[in-house]
Amino acid sequence: MLRPWQLTLGERIAPGRDTPIYMQIIQALIRDIERGRLASGTYLPSSRELAATLGVNRKTVVLAYEDLIAQGWLASAGTRGTMVSASLPAPQRSDPAGQSEPQQVEPDYDYVHPPERPLALPGGPGLKLDEGAPDGRLFPPELLSRAYRTAINRASRENRLQYRDPRGSMALRAGIANMLKTQRGLPVTVDNICITRGSQNGILLATHALVRPGDAVIVEALTYEPAVATFRACGAKILPVPLDDGGIDVEAVEYAARRHAVRAVFVTPHHQFPTTVSLRPERRMRLLDLSRQFGFAVIEDDYDHEFHFESQPLLPMAAYAPQKVVYVGSMSKLLLPALRIGYIAAPAAVIDAIAHMVSLTDGMGNTITEDAAADLIESGELRRHTRKVHQIYAQRRENFAAEIDAILGDQVSYRMPDGGLAFWLRFRADLDRIEARAAASGLRFASSRSFMTREDAERGLRIGFASLNEGETREALQALKQAAG
Ligand SMILES: Cc1ncc(COP(=O)(O)O)c(C=O)c1O
Repeated sequence: MLRPWQLTLGERIAPGRDTPIYMQIIQALIRDIERGRLASGTYLPSSRELAATLGVNRKTVVLAYEDLIAQGWLASAGTRGTMVSASLPAPQRSDPAGQSEPQQVEPDYDYVHPPERPLALPGGPGLKLDEGAPDGRLFPPELLSRAYRTAINRASRENRLQYRDPRGSMALRAGIANMLKTQRGLPVTVDNICITRGSQNGILLATHALVRPGDAVIVEALTYEPAVATFRACGAKILPVPLDDGGIDVEAVEYAARRHAVRAVFVTPHHQFPTTVSLRPERRMRLLDLSRQFGFAVIEDDYDHEFHFESQPLLPMAAYAPQKVVYVGSMSKLLLPALRIGYIAAPAAVIDAIAHMVSLTDGMGNTITEDAAADLIESGELRRHTRKVHQIYAQRRENFAAEIDAILGDQVSYRMPDGGLAFWLRFRADLDRIEARAAASGLRFASSRSFMTREDAERGLRIGFASLNEGETREALQALKQAAG
């Protein structure tokens, strides 16, 4: 006669699943032992009998029994057959009656619950608007495949497909150091560079090196929310200060620094996120003075440096105050966000502290991707691609502005961004209502509230223009018009 667990076992084993039958039998028997359905010392049916019950080949059951014996769950009792190992402790949880397996496993242990924030823009069929991403369709995939092939072949030949420097690929660090020195005026060598998994990872690593729980970090009233979330996750106290068309309010920075132990000020001076304005030179100088006076670091997030349209890109603050600035850069806008390549430029001692954190998190980063990116720099392909997309994005920026005027007219006000890949739109009508209606129509975009660290900040929508072709631009702006109407 079949025992009850044998019946439920039969219900849980099915051919055609991704998991092979013998593995399904192993998993089911371990689960039954753990849950007390099969007590320690219980004899199992012979392999022939179980195979007949389950309708499978006997060899499959023999294989599963042998594996479980090797793992110590079962024991061979000679001629008497196979039993559940007698040395197993009694299970803590008994679930003899449970027949069906839960779809979602709930942890039996406590864990740190993340704050409630959306992990990504919600999926859906509607048009997705970003906050200034590149158009990934413009990057020829064959260029990337070739760069990866070269990187892998070279690293294999030189026996470098091994554990490597946590600061990242030497070739890429050299390429980035050279680019920062010659094009952005930073006084750096390879020892001042650590490659990171995107600038987001750079912000986290920099925060670990700078901030201890309880330290204060100053951010602007409108800023990049994932950076603020990172500071919070590292235990920082967030001090939001106002900003205007000239960038961060430096008097408010001084006021805050007089009252709190400020460890860092986070800014995006080249193209303020989300408002796109550049930090005025006199405010840059004042911020650096305050950094000297109060001993805080400036985290300069220069996330889309290359795309400046009205003039040459502005020099980063790290170019004239490298001892005060932790400079975070990214190749996401230039290459592709999916490659996850960012970097930090800072004094060598800080880079070593950051590299220590890399060694604790993922050991050394993805050096194959980094070598491939280095190959794209060395071969000149990245320069050619940048020239090409710069022209396309310059046109898209003009076209986006013209379409805003034509479609949205005086429903919005905006300032033509000097650089970066997004517009900052201020609507005349109530934004909560507009956002709700736009979302209901299927349009997906970052909420205006996600940029705000203070309730008194002037709200707006940040809409990326670079990833949208002409048709998509019109579609997006028309959807916004309908929502605003
Ligand atoms: C201001 C700012 N910082 C950092 C990032 C992160 O970029 P990534 O991690 O892809 O380099 C972004 C992405 O858009 C950004 O807008």
